[in-house]
Amino acid sequence: MKKIILDVDTGIDDALGIILAVKSGQFDLVGITTVNGNVSLRKATENTCKILDFLQVGEQIPVICGASEPLLRPLFFEHAVHGEDGLGGALAGVPIYKEPTAGFAPDFIVENVLAHSGEITLVMTGPLTNLALAVKKCPELVQHVKEVIFMGGVVREHGNVTPVAEYNMYVDPEAAKVVFHAGFPQLTMVGLDVTRRVLLNEEHIRGLGDTPMGEYVRQSTSDYLHRYFQRNGIYACAMHDPLAVAVALDPKLVKTQKLYVDIETRSELCDGQTVCDFQNRLKKEPNINVCLDVDADAFFARFLGALKA
Ligand code: BDR
Ligand code: CA
Repeated sequence: MKKIILDVDTGIDDALGIILAVKSGQFDLVGITTVNGNVSLRKATENTCKILDFLQVGEQIPVICGASEPLLRPLFFEHAVHGEDGLGGALAGVPIYKEPTAGFAPDFIVENVLAHSGEITLVMTGPLTNLALAVKKCPELVQHVKEVIFMGGVVREHGNVTPVAEYNMYVDPEAAKVVFHAGFPQLTMVGLDVTRRVLLNEEHIRGLGDTPMGEYVRQSTSDYLHRYFQRNGIYACAMHDPLAVAVALDPKLVKTQKLYVDIETRSELCDGQTVCDFQNRLKKEPNINVCLDVDADAFFARFLGALKA
């Protein structure tokens, strides 16, 4: 089984990514690390524990807290998208039994990657702060990771926080810069170019039936669907983070091209923009496998199949 560490800022779609990772039954989930992002670190950790309780795997999977703020910038929550609690109001009032394990996420990442050299895939679905701190602590980490897959960025379309920046990149562009230039041999960017093409709609949700999982997805995505409609005119919502998890399950879901990508950190208008050198004008070595196309039907077959399992 593929060993993964999942790094999350649990949020509605991070939660669905966790559910996919657990219910796929195809991962050895070494641990889930949390980071500030959509919500505070405390809320992201609570939400992660709550989801593991809901899946009845709280005792098997450690949750480790990470960075409570971006490397240099102020906090930037997304309550307008994910709701006050971060889960769109689902599982409200449900007691949380699971508690996080002692430790700090960047240390957990370093220790486990070194202990299982060449075996661990890191799947990152929040701002990249924890991984940047891990790389700063242990630069040789990059030679021991099997692969890093992160949800973030956009190279051909518009952003979702500013006209040019995707949320995870916008929140901590300095962290993303560290990760982009760390020298990971396999670094895969699952950006808005592909995540906007995997849209969960009401028919998908109805298909989950009258089950606790169906009810959970219905509740957590209800406002999310509505907000996506207001902004994009489609009554559906993008499965950003579940797609990053799905790429770890099956890389053939996406078409990638290895390209040089950098991130803007010093612009009033463009901070967080991921700049992709399609024509190799900068004459730099390609550093990122950029996802440029996705088989949305195959994604949903896998995603919904796992949720129904
Ligand atoms: C990303 O930002 C967050 O709001 C989502 O959880 C996802 O990770 C999409 O831009
Ligand atoms: Ca996220």
